[in-house]
Amino acid sequence: MSPTTPFNSFVRDVPDFPKEGILFRDITPLLANAEAVEAMAQPVLALQPTHVLGLESRGFIFGSALAQKLGVGFVPARKPGKLPMATFNESYGLEYGSDALEIHTDAFKAGDRVLIVDDVMATGGTAAAAQRLVQRTGAQPLALTVFIELTSLPGREKVEGLPVFSVLRY
Ligand code: PRP
Ligand code: MG
Repeated sequence: MSPTTPFNSFVRDVPDFPKEGILFRDITPLLANAEAVEAMAQPVLALQPTHVLGLESRGFIFGSALAQKLGVGFVPARKPGKLPMATFNESYGLEYGSDALEIHTDAFKAGDRVLIVDDVMATGGTAAAAQRLVQRTGAQPLALTVFIELTSLPGREKVEGLPVFSVLRY
């Protein structure tokens, strides 16, 4: 599907945010565009996931919309300390700093097919942590879908073996 207006005109480049030297891609105008989720859904409709795993925080927005579109349940991967039950934890380095994601140990079971969803893939550290979290439950990480992929960084190498879908590439 081609958008009425190119999607890249809905992404604002913000230099030196949140730290000096980082070029931040602001996707808030994109979220206000009803065609954005549709474009993200098209390439993954045929994958037949059983669940969507959305990565806190901006992955929650695209992830829950995609889960509805695909007719599957949504599972949140949360920042540490937010989930009430036993969790798996995987940490990762970011373009700026380091962080970790957690899911409940019983979030998935063997045989589940999990589509991982986030807004952006930069270094791939966040996505790779999500991939490891899914693997620890015994479920299958099926693919990663992001709206924006920064191809100047080796994100795809970080998520080895996981197909990556993106709508915009910079
Ligand atoms: C951003 C973005 C991705 C991640 C990509 O999240 O939303 O999740 O960085 O970077 P990577 O591929 O180098 O790991 P951020 O950590 O800024 O948190 P937020 O989603 O809560 O804003
Ligand atoms: Mg994020």
